[in-house]
Amino acid sequence: MSPVAVAVEDKYDASQFQPSYLGKTAKGNLTVSKENQSLTLYPEYLPTWNPFQKYPPYKFQKFHDKGLEASEELTNLFSRNNQKYKVRKLTPKLGSEIEGIQLSQLDDLAKKDLSRFVSERGVVIFKDQDFNAKGPQFAIDFMRFFGPLHIHPTSGSPEAFPEMHITFRGASQREIDSVFARNTNSISWHSDCSYSLNALQLTLFSCLQLPESGGDTLFANTVEAYNRLSPAMQQRLEGLHILHSSVEQAESNKKAGGITRREPESNIHPIVRINPTTGQKHLYVNKEFGRRIIELKKEESDYLLNFLYNHIEDAQDLQIRVAWQPNTVVLWNNATTVHTPCVDFSEPVIRHAYRLSVMGERPVSDLKYLNDEQYLKDEYEALGI
Ligand SMILES: [Fe+2]
Repeated sequence: MSPVAVAVEDKYDASQFQPSYLGKTAKGNLTVSKENQSLTLYPEYLPTWNPFQKYPPYKFQKFHDKGLEASEELTNLFSRNNQKYKVRKLTPKLGSEIEGIQLSQLDDLAKKDLSRFVSERGVVIFKDQDFNAKGPQFAIDFMRFFGPLHIHPTSGSPEAFPEMHITFRGASQREIDSVFARNTNSISWHSDCSYSLNALQLTLFSCLQLPESGGDTLFANTVEAYNRLSPAMQQRLEGLHILHSSVEQAESNKKAGGITRREPESNIHPIVRINPTTGQKHLYVNKEFGRRIIELKKEESDYLLNFLYNHIEDAQDLQIRVAWQPNTVVLWNNATTVHTPCVDFSEPVIRHAYRLSVMGERPVSDLKYLNDEQYLKDEYEALGI
């Protein structure tokens, strides 16, 4: 599928290659600077870029959500072995924080419940986890249970683990300064890689090294955003589709000297998507990768998309803010939420984290199209992609 390019502003992205990354690994791959290598607490998780690592374009994949096999009351996750745990809702409709459950100890039945629980709550925060010390392979094996893992087209990853998407902000004043060189803020709401044909769904994020404060992640609930709309607006959105594209992300990575592992892609997804596990409808729009509504003229598309972006981004009453702590692991549903980083540091310190994402179902507006490879065939043909 050929990409469709439009000009967008570059924003600092700690998951992308930075011009200061002049270090080399023993195998000769690019990595962070020597100074940052010496300051890192978890060298086995450092991002590397191998110029010879190339992947073919993703093709349609059928997906079965493990959350559909969850127990009725999620008893396999919450009430086994009389374990002591605490669950606290961050807000009534988005986000739960859990203490007393060790993710690494969950069996397959508990993991099915976990998948459903993340679909229901959007974002789930697990405190005091032992994941980081177990190394990249453990985290990858944990997440593979839920489905195939996405390999990011441009971000750095530990040498033997291409599925592990690393975000690394180095301890340099230059990196701090670059955040606000062209923007007054670092806010950039998005759903990770929404340009993918099979959209990224269950996502795990863990911080390895972080400052005492700063670098929070903000999440917004796109189920609630849909529910807040009037029936007339909900009806207007039915049948509309957005073109999502990674062309600009790939270009800004290339400009910084980074490596392209997979060519950029563009795909069409419905604005109103349905979650197969909960049956809830939700908006599937984000400014970072959404380009235009294919059924509308440019001005109409800009008008409607700007309304939807502002609707989600301005409504603090459907959002949460996650403050990271050592050994906190967060799982989120990348379909029913959007998120943004918050780069509010004033001193040069390392922030090092990893992300693993399951490739979920191809987004559909109606469950009758679930796992239908021919879905939107006419729209793709009309756009020539
Ligand atoms: Fe993200």
